[in-house]
Order: sequence, then C-alpha cells, then structure tokens
Amino acid sequence: MNLAWSRSFMWDGAINHLDMQSLFPITHPNEMNESLDHVVSKLQSSNVYPSLYYKAFGDSMITGERTLKSLSQFMLTLVSANSKYDSVMRNETQFNEQQRRGYKLFKTNCASCHTEPLFTNAQFENNGLPLDSTLNDFGRMNVTHNPSDSLKFKVPTLRNIEFSFPYMHDGRFKRLSEVITHYTLGIQQSNTLSKQLRKPILLSSNEKVDLIAFLLTLSDRTFLFNPKYSYPRSIYFPETKD
Ligand code: HEC
Repeated sequence: MNLAWSRSFMWDGAINHLDMQSLFPITHPNEMNESLDHVVSKLQSSNVYPSLYYKAFGDSMITGERTLKSLSQFMLTLVSANSKYDSVMRNETQFNEQQRRGYKLFKTNCASCHTEPLFTNAQFENNGLPLDSTLNDFGRMNVTHNPSDSLKFKVPTLRNIEFSFPYMHDGRFKRLSEVITHYTLGIQQSNTLSKQLRKPILLSSNEKVDLIAFLLTLSDRTFLFNPKYSYPRSIYFPETKD
C-alpha cells in the first residue's frame, strides 16, 4: 500500500477504514498489483465513468478519494438478511427437522467461532488446517510476526457458504462435506490450535448431513441473484436492458 498517499488522505478522517479497505487488493502484488493513480487515469479515459461520477458527485472529476468512497458505499449496500435462517429467526417460518438437528450441532461445535448473526466472531483463529506447503502462508503471524499467531486466520462468515466455494484461505476444499471431514478427522494439533478444536468433534454420517442441511439455510437467493449486484450491462451496453 502506498503509505504516503494514504496518510495524506487520512489526516482529517475524511477517509474511513472501509474506504481504505479497497486500497489493499488494488495495490497488493498478489492481487491487482495496481496503483490507485493508474486506476484513476484508466477511469478518466473511459467513456462511461466521468458521467457516472458527475451523477454521483455533482461534477465529473475522478479522484482516488472519490473512487475509494464509491467502492465502500457500494459495499455498504451488500447486506444479506433474507436466508431461510433469517426468516426462522424472524419467526416467519420454521426449520424442518433435519435443519433443526443441524442447527443444534452447529451451536455445539461451530458457533463459538462462527458466531450468529454474522457467523463470525471477527477473531483470528487456528482451525487446525495443515500448513499449505506451496503457499507457506502462516496467516496472522505474517502480519504480527508473533509466533503465537502462527496459522491463525480471520474467521470467515458462513452466510451464503453454499455458493462461496472453494473453501479456506487457499481454497483447498471444494465441497462442504470435505470441510466437515476436516473438522472431524483432519484437525492438526499445534501450539496455536484454538482450544475449541483440541477435543475431537465426533459426528455420525447422518449428523454430517444434518449439519450441512443447516449450513444450506444460510443461502440468501434474493441477495445473491439481486440484479443490482450483477454485471452492469446497461452501463456498458446502454442500448440493451439489464
Ligand atoms: C476455533 C474456531 C473455529 C471453529 C470452532 C470452527 N471454525 Fe470454521 N473456520 C475457522 C477459521 C479460522 C476459518 C478460516 C480458515 C482459513 O481461512 O483457512 C474457518 C473456515 C470455515 C469454512 C470455510 C469458509 C470459507 O468461506 O472458506 C467453513 C465452511 C467452516 N469453517 C465451517 C465450520 C463448521 C461447520 C464448524 C463446526 C463443525 C466450524 N467451522 C468450526 C474457525 C473455526
């Protein structure tokens, strides 16, 4: 990240944390490996964006600050609260028997880290994955250089998990059944393993199916297939409709 640049915009708090978030994937060498200045110049030479900036900001000036703000304002609209799980919590409907059994298993074995309602406790935890020897990614320790953070990763949400494969930071699992098998048979003991996973999780094959049935209630199709979040064809091809 270009620290000189970010400091120059952060001094007055005009840009908040979420605004800064987009800088990381834009500039990180393993992600877009771009500079914000170059992104801005590409947007300036596009025949679409100046008029969109005009609509949003009252003039068509494209700046890094406006670009980051637009991205974070868009991200703030991404709220998923219409899954079957949410309807059950609002007492609009009920789980079936299988989902109910899965929910119980989830609360016993998973919810200390994947905590409702966001399905994350927002902590860094070691969930017992063996080190990915091709990436050599020690997770949080790469940032803090503290050995007690070795192999800890931010607990991800499980909302819409049915659709967000492949799973884990390196995408090592393609199916939810493989994830469950990891938690029941694959936990790698180590000094930093989170304490909830030190005792084995024992699940029968029926219980595994019940747990997955519960995880599938976290899918929110009205959110996932909302045309507002799909590719903006009408912007690039104004003659067609979305
Ligand atoms: C000690 C905390 C902890 C517990 C308990 C835990 N998890 Fe996790 N879970 C994590 C962490 C941390 C990750 C992310 C690991 C990574 O990025 O490599 C994760 C990742 C996942 C993922 C992949 C998410 C994604 O988007 O890639 C799924 C699915 C999952 N857990 C399900 C479960 C289920 C089901 C249980 C209970 C059987 C459970 N977890 C118990 C900490 C935990």
